[in-house]
Amino acid sequence: MCGIMGYTGVEPAVPIIYSGLKKLEYRGYDSSGIGIVESGKVELFKTEGGPDNLKSRLPFKSSSAVGLGHTRWATHGAANEINAHPHTSPQKLFMIVHNGIIENCSELKLRYHLDSELKSETDTEVIACLLEREYSGDVKEAITRVMPQLTGSYALGIICIDFPDTLFCAKKSSPLFVCTDERGAYLASDIAAFPGDTGKIYRLGDGEIGIIKKDSFKVFDIDGCRIRKTEIRLRDTEEYEDKGGYEHYMLKEIYEQPSAVEKTLDSIMSDGKIKLGCLRMNRERIKSLTRIELIGCGSAYHAGLAGAYALQKLLKIPARAYIASEYKSMGSVADENTLAIIISQSGETADTLAAMKEVKSRNAKIVSVVNNRYSTIAQESDSVIITRAGREISVATTKAFSAQLAVLYCIAVRLAYSAGRIDRERYRALCAELLSLPEKSRQTLEKNEAIEKIAQILKDAEYTCFIGRAADYCTAMEGALKLKEVSYSHCEAYAAGELKHGTISLIENGTPVIAVCADSSALSKTVSNIKECKSRGAKIICITDSDYDGDADDIVIKIPDTEDLFSVSAAVIPLQLIAYHTAKKKGCGIDKPKNLAKSVTVE
Ligand code: F6R
Repeated sequence: MCGIMGYTGVEPAVPIIYSGLKKLEYRGYDSSGIGIVESGKVELFKTEGGPDNLKSRLPFKSSSAVGLGHTRWATHGAANEINAHPHTSPQKLFMIVHNGIIENCSELKLRYHLDSELKSETDTEVIACLLEREYSGDVKEAITRVMPQLTGSYALGIICIDFPDTLFCAKKSSPLFVCTDERGAYLASDIAAFPGDTGKIYRLGDGEIGIIKKDSFKVFDIDGCRIRKTEIRLRDTEEYEDKGGYEHYMLKEIYEQPSAVEKTLDSIMSDGKIKLGCLRMNRERIKSLTRIELIGCGSAYHAGLAGAYALQKLLKIPARAYIASEYKSMGSVADENTLAIIISQSGETADTLAAMKEVKSRNAKIVSVVNNRYSTIAQESDSVIITRAGREISVATTKAFSAQLAVLYCIAVRLAYSAGRIDRERYRALCAELLSLPEKSRQTLEKNEAIEKIAQILKDAEYTCFIGRAADYCTAMEGALKLKEVSYSHCEAYAAGELKHGTISLIENGTPVIAVCADSSALSKTVSNIKECKSRGAKIICITDSDYDGDADDIVIKIPDTEDLFSVSAAVIPLQLIAYHTAKKKGCGIDKPKNLAKSVTVE
């Protein structure tokens, strides 16, 4: 959350920092700013809104070759110009940008009587004040004195006016990277922000302090001892993509799903079989597993629900999905016979990372399913499976979710086969089903025109209800999340059988009920629930791979027949499209919904 971009070098800093911020705005876009050093003084340019809003205020002609930029997702203080970063210390000795959250900020303000010195409501400005208090000529020393006083998470970019060509940085539990090339050195919270592809890239570790000059990069630990860093060897670096003719990234990414799933399956399967050597679990170890925990947030949690369903059905041991932010509070029961599957597109989600640390401390075997191989979660897992969704720019995830499903299904089928819970014939049949998923997604996308019409109904609805049973319940949950986040429509997903236990009272004349009927094991019962809604006036929209046709006034979207265990894969696509078209009809900012950010690095 929040994007940091810094530069020190031989070229004008503003265009370089601005272009980095544009690539980082997925991390937050409610306010933004750039600070440069001009004639020995700090100059700040800040605004409400993301880098696009900032552009017209920036001094693109300035020759300053050093600066820091930031695009923000507000934690402390409203999303306005005053709270936008960079922040300065009272005497303007320090300029700082910060990603993360300082949990003891109020305590620090009280302890050092800072209230009268602060101009903003941010926790970041508190850090700037502390740096100035602790500074007596040596910035590294000041940072090492301030760091132990901070509770929470932070990635910091710092400029001290006494060393105007130097960037300082430090981090704890928030990603930070440095890149050096012939034009100078860059600091960013994601390698995607670095220009070109010739630079050497380094990852800063927790508790480390970096000193970055145009031609050198040195790293120290908290005791001031020098640490030698090794360059990250980049594989699969992706270009920052454009919309490729689509009106929004979300739509482009929805259409990229067949290829994302295909590439993901290609990386795991060969000759029609699943190769998961990277799990490093032999037959005996797999048989020793007594439970599987799948941990993630938001859509990644929903992928976990779908994965848990397939795992438990195939492996016949308890498999349960957990919302990462709830994991620790409910008291983990994981042990060395637990397989914990950590699911995260960004690999940086703070809640997921915290849950992973908890489950790790209980000696469970950790496998992460991430889309970013350079992420913290990928680095800290026993085994990593990379989803091949490519860079996902729309804040609402679609293709990364589909790629996560593909990986989880592969894990379920492979473990079940290795543990002897399914025979060779079933294994082969399931592998063939997996390989057919990209084509089924393609065929589902062909229904776009029919699906678009549904948005006309949803755009004016006060409330929409999603229902489904078994795997269809996972699909319904993901569909409702998509509709809420991009179209700001009130809706909820229910296990279809739960309606009669209370929520059916919400159904009124014309209430849209989106029923997912793609898991045949639950079809007849869900159809009964559809009838119950219909008799209370609901407008039925049914997504099904069965021959259920509904009544003449129902809308039925037929999708390709898919193995029940994997049915979320195709069935979720119409729901993504419904969310997209509804948001478009309502004029919402689809790729950057309000109040959200793509990478959520605070707990
Ligand atoms: C919803 C969405 C979020 C993320 C969640 C976890 O469209 O994108 O719910 O799924 O914030 O993010 P990652 O997967 O990066 O851990």
